[in-house]
Amino acid sequence: MYSYQDVLSEVLIDEQTLQARVKELGKEISADYEGQDLVFVCILRGGVVFLIDLMRHVTVPNQIEFMAVSSYGAGHRESNGDVRITYDLNTKIEGRNVVIVEDIVDSGNTLNAVIQLLSTRGPKSLYICTLLDKEARREVDIPIRYRGFSIPDKFVYGYGLDLDEYFRNLPFIGVVDLEKLQIMKKKFGHG
Ligand code: IMP
Ligand code: MG
Repeated sequence: MYSYQDVLSEVLIDEQTLQARVKELGKEISADYEGQDLVFVCILRGGVVFLIDLMRHVTVPNQIEFMAVSSYGAGHRESNGDVRITYDLNTKIEGRNVVIVEDIVDSGNTLNAVIQLLSTRGPKSLYICTLLDKEARREVDIPIRYRGFSIPDKFVYGYGLDLDEYFRNLPFIGVVDLEKLQIMKKKFGHG
C-alpha cells in the first residue's frame, strides 16, 4: 500500500486552521441551542473525526447517533439519487433538535435523502453541519446552516474523508494528485 505522501498534491487545510474553525462551529452551535439540548446525527464514516472534535466544543447537553448511507449503482466517488440507509439511528428523534454532521456536501444527493427520511420522523428542528462544501458539484439544493469551509472541485482526503477507505486519520485535508494516484494504483493495485 502506498502512503499519503505518495498521492498528495497539496495540503488544502492544515491542522491548525481546521481545529480553529471546528472550535468556532462548536461555539456557534452552543450559542444557537442555549437552554436546549440536541442530537447530533453523524453520517458514517466520513463525519466521525469532525464530530468527535466538534462535540468537545459544544457546551449544551447533546447526544450522538450514527447513520450509514450508501448509493446504488454509482462508483464510490459519485453518488446518485438512489441512496440506501445501511445503518439507522438507535433513538427516536421526534420532538428533538437534530443536527446532521457530515464531512462534505458534494452533489448533495446523500444528504438530500437523509433529510427526507429524518423529516418524516417529526424532529423539532433539523439542521446540517458540514465540514466541507464543494458547491460547484451541487445537483440538489441543500440548506446548510453550519459550514466549515467552501472548497474547490478537487478530490480531497484526510480528517475523516477517505481515499479508497484509507487516510481518514490524517489531521489535515489534502488534495489528491490524480496522476500520482494512477501510478500508485498500477504499482500496488487497489489496496
Ligand atoms: P454527495 O452525495 O455527492 O453529496 O456525496 C457525499 C459523499 O461523497 C461524502 O459524504 C463523501 O463520503 C463522498 N465525497 C465527496 N467528495 C469527496 C472528496 O473529495 N473526498 C472524499 N470523499 C468525498
Ligand atoms: Mg461521507
